[in-house]
Amino acid sequence: MGKILVIGSSNTDLIATVKSFPAAGETIVGTTFFQTMGGKGANQAVAAHRLGGDVKFNTCLGRDANGRNAFKYYSKEGLDVSSSLIVDDIPSGTAIILVDEKGENCIVVNPGANEKLTSEYIYEVEKDIANADMVVLQMEIPYDSVKAVCDIASKYKKKIILNVAPARKVEIDLLKKVDVLIVNETEAEVLTEEKIEDIGEEAIINKLLKKGVQNVILTLGNKGCLFKNGNDLLKIPAFRVNAVDTTAAGDTFCGALAAELSREKDWEEILKFATAASAICVTRMGAQPSIPMEREIQEFLKKNDELHIK
Ligand code: RIB
Repeated sequence: MGKILVIGSSNTDLIATVKSFPAAGETIVGTTFFQTMGGKGANQAVAAHRLGGDVKFNTCLGRDANGRNAFKYYSKEGLDVSSSLIVDDIPSGTAIILVDEKGENCIVVNPGANEKLTSEYIYEVEKDIANADMVVLQMEIPYDSVKAVCDIASKYKKKIILNVAPARKVEIDLLKKVDVLIVNETEAEVLTEEKIEDIGEEAIINKLLKKGVQNVILTLGNKGCLFKNGNDLLKIPAFRVNAVDTTAAGDTFCGALAAELSREKDWEEILKFATAASAICVTRMGAQPSIPMEREIQEFLKKNDELHIK
């Protein structure tokens, strides 16, 4: 099994459920409030770890109560965070999340210590990249740090999985180094400066492949996902589930994909596994509390495969 290194953000999520999102200037009363661990990097690392991957997670935490909780939580999970940074004078990352009755969310991220995961730190942990088989990245740490990881990983010929979330523009030189690019519709549109409704899903993937990415996955929410590389085009439909909270569905997909890729499965199996993982995730509240274990996915796939929308 290949070794997975996730380098990215960790947040404490402060979640309020609401009937519907407030308008500007409006004060509304929430229906519930709770706090859980989140952050795109951490969610992906926890997902890959719970789903059987051999995972190391490098993040940056503040020396505050949230940072201490996070460190304890990851250690209890059995996740290796031994190369992570703890910094003074800046709070750990937080995210304020509203979830409405349809399970949709609005998120405000306060990066805090995640901004201190600098490219200087990346060069200090070069050996972690050299020791891994693949690195998994998102966009909640400084862009220069993402670039530094990609430079080092490509020097050592390691696989790079990049999830361009939150959406932003990315230089072509960086995209050329990416083995697996995972984007939702908004992220694909920002990267290509095209609209899916104008050119279609496959055409937008083709634009990304033309930029030099090896494999592109376009996630389509409750429509599943579309995969394309030089040889294959695969459409994996979503599973029919009762969604209560979509937070971390994309992260769970990415972590599950990394775990299954590290077991060298074929693309159809990898994508089905990741689709099942995110289907389970949306049936539960919160980011990390909703990430399933490997056994749950096997059971879910046995039970639900015939219900898979074709
Ligand atoms: O993708 C979901 C995550 O986005 C949340 O856990 C939150 O922390 C933000 O980073």
